[in-house]
Amino acid sequence: MTTFDAHPRSSLIVALDFDSLTAAVKFAQQVADLVGMFKIGSQLFTNAGPDAVREISKLGTGVFLDLKFHDIPNTVAGAVLAAAAMPGLQLVNVHALGGTAMMRAAAQAISAGVPMGADRARLLAVTVLTSMDQKAIREVGIGGPPKSRVVKLAKLAQEAGVDGVVASVQEAKAIRKARGPEFLIVTPGVRPKEQSADDKDDQARTATPREAIKAGADFIVVGRPIIAAADPRAAAQAIVDEIAAAKA
Ligand code: C5P
Repeated sequence: MTTFDAHPRSSLIVALDFDSLTAAVKFAQQVADLVGMFKIGSQLFTNAGPDAVREISKLGTGVFLDLKFHDIPNTVAGAVLAAAAMPGLQLVNVHALGGTAMMRAAAQAISAGVPMGADRARLLAVTVLTSMDQKAIREVGIGGPPKSRVVKLAKLAQEAGVDGVVASVQEAKAIRKARGPEFLIVTPGVRPKEQSADDKDDQARTATPREAIKAGADFIVVGRPIIAAADPRAAAQAIVDEIAAAKA
């Protein structure tokens, strides 16, 4: 299984939410030495395809392929198998709402084709999108407070053989407590302190990098606070420093 080093920057995943691979690579080159992984999501992948993973992995950082697969088990297994063969791939994800059979198929696919003892990417399940608040969650027919829903989905994911979850910082502590120290927790919706109060973009549930690490997150995902910053290197470094202080 892939092991992650302990340097504070390893916990920082920068979301490359760009329309073009040229723009993404140009940006990624600027900050590659300051971050642990780059996240390629549906925006960049739909524009540039698997070349995005190939080009970004050349920078030497790991890649999180954030395509949040949610389909019938057989289709998801095929997609995860294809993802697992991509260079530099360290994390890939599915939606926990796809259910146990789908997650189990994905968990089998992530290890298939990898020789025993060799590194393999880790599989994550998205619990509830961090852009959704309680009202939005209820509107789609999911009852109860987001936190208990997320904790239940994390349990389902772990039981299906998934390595960890994507969840908001608000739920990280409860997940860590319930699912143990080995279960990976990746938290998006992270905003540096000075931004978290008033500039959340479309994220409904946000927290600072410090709060994320203190709550038990292994990785934090940050997009716009770094990619749209006037000085992306300074923005990334400030977050790495905050991670380091929180881990000290
Ligand atoms: O720009 P920002 O920091 O809000 O970007 C967060 C990134 O994390 C986006 O790429 C978004 O797709 C992703 N994400 C999220 N919530 C999840 C899973 C992934 O915001 N539950």
